[in-house]
Amino acid sequence: MRKGKIMIIYHESSKTFHLYNNEISYIMCVLPNGHLGNLYFGKRIHDREDFSHLLEMKQRPMTACVYEGNRKFSLEHLKLEYPVYGSSDYRYPAVEILQENGSRISDFTYVSYTIAAGKPKLQGLPATYTEKDEEAQTLCVKLKDEVTGIVLELLYTIFTQRGIITRSARFTNEGTSSVHLLNAMSLSLDLPDKDYVWMQFSGAWSRERHVKERRLEQGIQSVGSIRGNSSHEHNPFIVLRRPSATENAGEVMGFSLIYSGNHRMQAEVDTHDTTRITVGINPQNFDWKLDCGESFQTPEAVVVFSDKGLNGMSQTFHKLYQKRLARGYWRDRPRPILNNNWEATYFDFTEDRLVEIAAKAKECGVELFVLDDGWFGARSNDYAGLGDWVANRERLPQGIKGIADRIEEMGMKFGLWFEPEMVNKDSDLYRAHPDWILQTPQRHSCHGRNQYVLDFSRKEVVDCIYEMMYKILSEAKVSYIKWDMNRSITECCSAALPADRQGEVFHRYILGVYDLYERLNTAFPQILFESCASGGGRFDPGILYYAPQGWTSDDTDAAERVKIQYGTSMCYPVSSMGSHVSVVPNHQLNRKTPLHTRANVAYFGTFGYELDLNKLSDEEISEVKQQITFMKEYRELIQFGTFYRLKSPFEGNETVWMTVSEDKKTALVFWYRERNVVNADFTRVRLQGLDPDLIYRNEYNETENYGDELMNLGLLTTDCTAGEPTSEDQPCTDYESRIYVLTAK
Ligand code: GLA
Repeated sequence: MRKGKIMIIYHESSKTFHLYNNEISYIMCVLPNGHLGNLYFGKRIHDREDFSHLLEMKQRPMTACVYEGNRKFSLEHLKLEYPVYGSSDYRYPAVEILQENGSRISDFTYVSYTIAAGKPKLQGLPATYTEKDEEAQTLCVKLKDEVTGIVLELLYTIFTQRGIITRSARFTNEGTSSVHLLNAMSLSLDLPDKDYVWMQFSGAWSRERHVKERRLEQGIQSVGSIRGNSSHEHNPFIVLRRPSATENAGEVMGFSLIYSGNHRMQAEVDTHDTTRITVGINPQNFDWKLDCGESFQTPEAVVVFSDKGLNGMSQTFHKLYQKRLARGYWRDRPRPILNNNWEATYFDFTEDRLVEIAAKAKECGVELFVLDDGWFGARSNDYAGLGDWVANRERLPQGIKGIADRIEEMGMKFGLWFEPEMVNKDSDLYRAHPDWILQTPQRHSCHGRNQYVLDFSRKEVVDCIYEMMYKILSEAKVSYIKWDMNRSITECCSAALPADRQGEVFHRYILGVYDLYERLNTAFPQILFESCASGGGRFDPGILYYAPQGWTSDDTDAAERVKIQYGTSMCYPVSSMGSHVSVVPNHQLNRKTPLHTRANVAYFGTFGYELDLNKLSDEEISEVKQQITFMKEYRELIQFGTFYRLKSPFEGNETVWMTVSEDKKTALVFWYRERNVVNADFTRVRLQGLDPDLIYRNEYNETENYGDELMNLGLLTTDCTAGEPTSEDQPCTDYESRIYVLTAK
């Protein structure tokens, strides 16, 4: 087996590419008709000069064949890297190009390749990156459709560490007439069988990213969004796991799209039980006109292979997205503990009231006070003000600078909420520019939460919002921004584009969002951005490139949050999950959960409070102070340690997850039980990732155990009170939770 730095090999005699590292192999070849075919993707295998025996060309009934006199060569039965429809492959394609003569057939044949160290940037799009060239290699395979003159460059990056391949496609029109790209996937991958469980991370507002799974079967299984945002409903992330794979063992592949707009993640199992995965911009409503000389770059897709189960896959995504997708000042820094005023006051506040909330937070140890919605324009409810990013002087007589200074003087940082992409009709911005919203001529415009979506496909619109934000941020000391987005797009049409370019608006809109983020990141590199879209409606890797954390969900109920954070952890690192303690009864569903459980759940994220601490009892305040002390001590471990899921809330009454420090000397185990059980079973949880030879002190159980004992025999989690009658004045122990701190001696 070849070892060393070379990761991409090209065998000229067989026209075969082999991308590999210690974990994976990805093998492709140029097929007899010049198309690029896939031969293998999975665990690392030996390199060979020739893998063409894997091309199974067999004569089959009802097959359309490419060459006269040859009844074996059909694209339908080959594994293809970037398939087209209409020339013998009947599966769903990666690309569809509408040409001047009405044809949608294309024929991309191999031209050349280049291999480069590192990874190139994608123009205007978020993507994973390298800091040193040795971290990755990138293969660019150039293909061309001779009839249209369209050049297709397929980019493949393999990272030195872990089982990661990133892919994207770039089209350049070198022909003599315009074409329309109607479908341009970021990734298409044909797998030789269908023996997988499909996992998706779906739900709704306040129920984001619940784990849902089913066996793959002949036909199409797909999730996606055509809302303009990646959505609460379906995250741009799917997993295929072997049915026997578990959290800690077995083969798993995860597919993720670094994109915040309309997406589609699809598996098609064909008639011979092979599986085609396609990942990319949702072709519904997509129509990109490519004039002569123009290029189109697709977003980047990431595929991770793990033979160490779901945890192995998740840990790979966590490290990649934490260290080589997120950027900037806050990437590696523990996140400040914050207090947000939204659920404390909603729109009903004055400057003094805010300072009162902040003062109590400061007393408890909070580091950042965040002023949410309602500080600008005529925003006293959700009918007015969006678009007017100037302080409301009735509420904030000294403007943002005034309140920011008061917070800073208290020794805290100050953060501010914006919803840059939106406008209310009752606003100065809309009155001045009614044509700046996305709207279709002669059609009624739908609202969402009484607001309309600004046409971010237009540079002058983005410029105007940038200038308003820039002014506020350069006049006042703002250390954090919560960037919200509270509705999806309807009547998607831009007044600035001609009819034959209206199919570009959804994508151009997202490019505008990325552009504004990039400009603000550049102008204010130390501001910590937290993304939000009515909670987790745009919690995706695209946004993580600009905002290293996101508000995971509007649902702050601890019991609901366990599920949301569990599902979210399949792809996203703990450091990216905004999570706060809020009041009881909870504002989303009126449930009461104990204060310690609310904190135990919120620790596994960025941590903060979404309430007015003045309203808590003295006893509760002393608990809050302890929570903050605890989080300050352990946040680095929690946010940047190695995270393992141990028991799923989707499978039973108990949830367990843990995090381990890099040196394996400290671990925190989170245990949660939904409902109390009378006379319950004896329970143990087998831990992961510890050093088998170290002895760990467990304060909660008052025990000392070797790591191998905790990993093989398990941590005893039996609830000692189970079965004992509770007296009337004892609280019900539903929603009970614990944190076990394990420290090596
Ligand atoms: C959205 C967010 C909330 C809050 C409100 C303010 O719903 O998810 O956290 O910021 O907007 O209007």
